[in-house]
Amino acid sequence: MILKINNIEVKYHEVILVIKGVSIEVPDGGIVALLGANGAGKSTTLKAVSGLLNHEDGEVTDGSIEFMGERIDKMRAERIARMGIVQVIEGRRVFEHLTVEQNLKVGAHMKKKGGRSIKDGLEMVYNYFPRLKEKRNEIAGFISGGEQQMTVVGRALMTSPRLILLDEPSMGLAPLLIHEIFNIITRLHKDENISILLVEQNAKLALNVAPYAYVMENGRIVMNDTAEKLRQNPDIKDFYLGLKDHGGRKNFRDVKHYKRRKRWLT
Ligand SMILES: Nc1ncnc2c1ncn2[C@@H]1O[C@H](COP(=O)(O)OP(=O)(O)OP(=O)(O)O)[C@@H](O)[C@H]1O
Ligand SMILES: [Mg+2]
Repeated sequence: MILKINNIEVKYHEVILVIKGVSIEVPDGGIVALLGANGAGKSTTLKAVSGLLNHEDGEVTDGSIEFMGERIDKMRAERIARMGIVQVIEGRRVFEHLTVEQNLKVGAHMKKKGGRSIKDGLEMVYNYFPRLKEKRNEIAGFISGGEQQMTVVGRALMTSPRLILLDEPSMGLAPLLIHEIFNIITRLHKDENISILLVEQNAKLALNVAPYAYVMENGRIVMNDTAEKLRQNPDIKDFYLGLKDHGGRKNFRDVKHYKRRKRWLT
């Protein structure tokens, strides 16, 4: 396992308990998805791994996190980044006043020890995202949402990561673009041997690229299984895949079977 999250608890401002006993494992070279509704604690879990939690007055108050066998839960974000972990935060935040290429170069400053040179990094990113090469001198604030998402993924790649924590890359994008970005992510994972922990609300998409997934609710993992099994699971079908949807997305709590099962689980 490249990443082991062992039974962690996370608090914000020393009192707000948002993650309770969460354990997640990511195999070396694997893709694992973390699914869950709004507010479940998905982003917080990623921030616990990357160390960004500390910038929001959050803290891992119990349990441990190991990356390549080393404890990282007390480390600072900068040090964790240099070990080869990068988080692509939700909401595709580019530096709006910088060009696409300048945005990518920012990533290189956080690069893993012994990672690629800036020149090689840019070449690699442009190889995966030819669109970014075309737009490299444009101001990032003015390119499309899809191109901005590519820019933040590209910026993450500039760090030569071993593990990418990817937070809702599909959010607000048109289906074709989502498809394009996910294709590239899958290729990257294969060709560059990058492990990925993918947070998604779009379960259909996530279960297509990740062979294994965890489902989070209210700060706890309530299910984890292979994508194949989860796709067959009636609760997942109801809530996430919308296969029995009668207009509008249901609240996870409204799914009856789920409640029944949850009683056995907890
Ligand atoms: N900086 C913070 N300070 C206090 N509480 C926070 C902070 N950030 C998040 N929370 C709370 O922690 C809980 C989990 O939030 P988190 O952002 O991790 O959820 P999420 O699963 O990523 O949701 P979404 O799908 O909406 O992105 C929420 O109740 C949220 O209000
Ligand atoms: Mg989130």
